[in-house]
Amino acid sequence: MLSRRDYLKYSALAGAACAFPASLLRALEAGDIIKRAIPVTGEELPVVGLGSSATFRTVAQSDDVTALRGVLQTLVENGGTVFDTAPGYGASEEVAGQIVQDLGLQEKVFWATKVNVAPRGGGSADPAAARAQIDRSFEYIGKDPIDLIQVHNLGDVPTQMGILKDLKEEGRVRYIGVTSTSSSRYPDLEQVMRDESVDFIGVDYAVDNRESAESVLPLAQELGIGVLAYVPFGRTRLWARVRGLEVPDWAQEFGADTWGKFFIKYVISHPAITCVTPATSKPENMLDNIGAAFGDLPDEATRRRMAEFVDALPSA
Ligand SMILES: NC(=O)c1ccc[n+]([C@@H]2O[C@H](COP(=O)([O-])OP(=O)(O)OC[C@H]3O[C@@H](n4cnc5c(N)ncnc54)[C@H](OP(=O)(O)O)[C@@H]3O)[C@@H](O)[C@H]2O)c1
Repeated sequence: MLSRRDYLKYSALAGAACAFPASLLRALEAGDIIKRAIPVTGEELPVVGLGSSATFRTVAQSDDVTALRGVLQTLVENGGTVFDTAPGYGASEEVAGQIVQDLGLQEKVFWATKVNVAPRGGGSADPAAARAQIDRSFEYIGKDPIDLIQVHNLGDVPTQMGILKDLKEEGRVRYIGVTSTSSSRYPDLEQVMRDESVDFIGVDYAVDNRESAESVLPLAQELGIGVLAYVPFGRTRLWARVRGLEVPDWAQEFGADTWGKFFIKYVISHPAITCVTPATSKPENMLDNIGAAFGDLPDEATRRRMAEFVDALPSA
């Protein structure tokens, strides 16, 4: 794992490569970044953030993490705040925490992490281990309270949600929630949404993966639960489906001039979504993704057209 000293060495080398003057231009041209209210408090969040599994995680584990500094700077310089991470994402949380602290951005980043020490496939979580895992998150980000902690993948919810509730009561975490990106577990997710006072859920949603919109997203709206939308590109799936294809002309009408914006604008135009957190390891892709949070969004008829367009593409 990368030490803080190593990180500082790498980040010194990054130097001027991290300046993105295009960011200000974009904001001036397209107006303010679109925000959504967290239902339970009304606090507004920019509708596009950053995730940290996939390629972000791979780079975080490598010897050179300078690109991630550019990614996090690009997020914040363009008005984004939400960073979704987890102790389960290798070095992502530690490295991002070092970068954010180094840049003095702790208060500008909405830090959404997770807890899970339950065995894979079910079983009990050791409460002491769960608390120790959360203590490490506090250490990495250097921010207290942490903005959001969710029980990752529905792991031993009674034990781990109990710990999160205690932390919330103590004022050490502002919001609590639970995540699942497995449709076979949506019924369990919905049960937790009904039984526990969760502020957020994290769930998968993409233009070619719309199952969560059948019952999970409407339930979140009904119960006033915020939603972090995960895996908006299906990781590599959607990229494979559109390889070699131009974005259709009609998508320019709502500002989708890249596939990244097309996929993200579909997700954030669902009214249940509070914020989408695509992962990237590249500052230029972060700029592309956050660009989807400016300008117009597709209406209902256009959303149907987008889904039909993607459904007609060959499977990846
Ligand atoms: N159960 C859970 O709690 C759970 C489960 C899954 C995901 N999540 C969260 O949701 C986040 C997003 O999901 P994900 O990381 O699985 O997949 P994703 O965001 O759907 O896809 C990430 C992939 O898209 C590429 N990409 C990103 N922006 C791009 C752009 N503008 N143009 C071209 N390629 C682009 C990235 O590569 P480059 O590096 O080349 O940009 C990477 O390969 C995760 O990182 C995590 O924070 C949570």
